[in-house]
Amino acid sequence: MKVLITGGTGLLGYHLQLLAPPQANIISCYLPSEEPLPYPLPFPAQPLDITDFSRVTNLFTKFSPDIVIHTAAQGSIDWCEDHKPLARSVNIDATFHLIDLCRRHHTHFIFLSTNAVYDGHSSYAKETDVPHPVNFYGASKLAVEQALASDSVSSTIIRPNLMYGWPYPGGRDNQVTRVINSLRQSSPIKILFDTWFSPVSANFMSRVIWYCALDRISGLFNIGGSQRMTLFDLSKLTAQIFQLDPSLLIPVSIKDVPAAPRAIDTSFSTAKMTSELFFSPQPVAEDLLAMKTIPVQSPA
Ligand SMILES: NC(=O)c1ccc[n+]([C@@H]2O[C@H](COP(=O)([O-])OP(=O)(O)OC[C@H]3O[C@@H](n4cnc5c(N)ncnc54)[C@H](OP(=O)(O)O)[C@@H]3O)[C@@H](O)[C@H]2O)c1
Repeated sequence: MKVLITGGTGLLGYHLQLLAPPQANIISCYLPSEEPLPYPLPFPAQPLDITDFSRVTNLFTKFSPDIVIHTAAQGSIDWCEDHKPLARSVNIDATFHLIDLCRRHHTHFIFLSTNAVYDGHSSYAKETDVPHPVNFYGASKLAVEQALASDSVSSTIIRPNLMYGWPYPGGRDNQVTRVINSLRQSSPIKILFDTWFSPVSANFMSRVIWYCALDRISGLFNIGGSQRMTLFDLSKLTAQIFQLDPSLLIPVSIKDVPAAPRAIDTSFSTAKMTSELFFSPQPVAEDLLAMKTIPVQSPA
């Protein structure tokens, strides 16, 4: 089974490679920069800007994947709001190009959408709830979801909730690693206490995605953790598990942070994931303990 993973140096792209099943013959792609990759990726990797359509077409045609797992995106809500044309070209136009290739080559397409498709006015969002994004990032992901709904390409739409885990060495921090790094340096860190999520480990997310990939499961799935919590709750739990000083966590309100509009509550219902994919996430504390046991995740 040939699998093309975009965003190979991202949090999820990296974990997908670490947890790849033996039958997966993978090429991962990463956004090229002037510097070579600081650490090798677990599988053969290709520098590829997904907005470079001719290179994407060339790689796709040469490799001829059975599955594309499309994790690459501009994922910063604030950046997307301030750079709409660039965000559109990565999150929408480049994704449409990949979908077009997948349709023509009968390749299954796994799209990583977001919890930000919801407006956050109610808790435990279900797949049947009407999406209504409050920022451009959420709108860019919803535009792709809507296109997939009327496209003949075989596809799975995964909406991840807030993800955490050890990133690719030297990669971008997430909420949990940001708190660990800050508290280890005895630096105070401001954390929102009034936005709710269903935080989920990149490890769990990867296992769900591989399950969908192996069985080419179609449909739309909200994938989140077992607990609804605020960023402040998550940070306090992180400090506790990693035995760091919680007094350095400074609670702040979303109302006091100048930023792009954000949904207040994007916690997920896990009902469809549990009943149709048969996955149940473990408590966040257990994921954090697992992170503590394996301090840096790197290829075996
Ligand atoms: N993390 C979360 O909490 C979360 C929640 C909901 C949805 N999602 C979605 O889930 C997916 C995976 O998330 P993640 O946390 O793994 O994201 P991530 O760590 O930000 O990884 C995204 C990857 O895309 C790459 N990329 C950006 N622009 C590109 C381009 N033009 N060409 C090629 N690659 C490009 C980035 O490269 P550089 O690192 O070099 O910029 C990065 O490696 C994303 O689609 C994200 O929108 C994430």
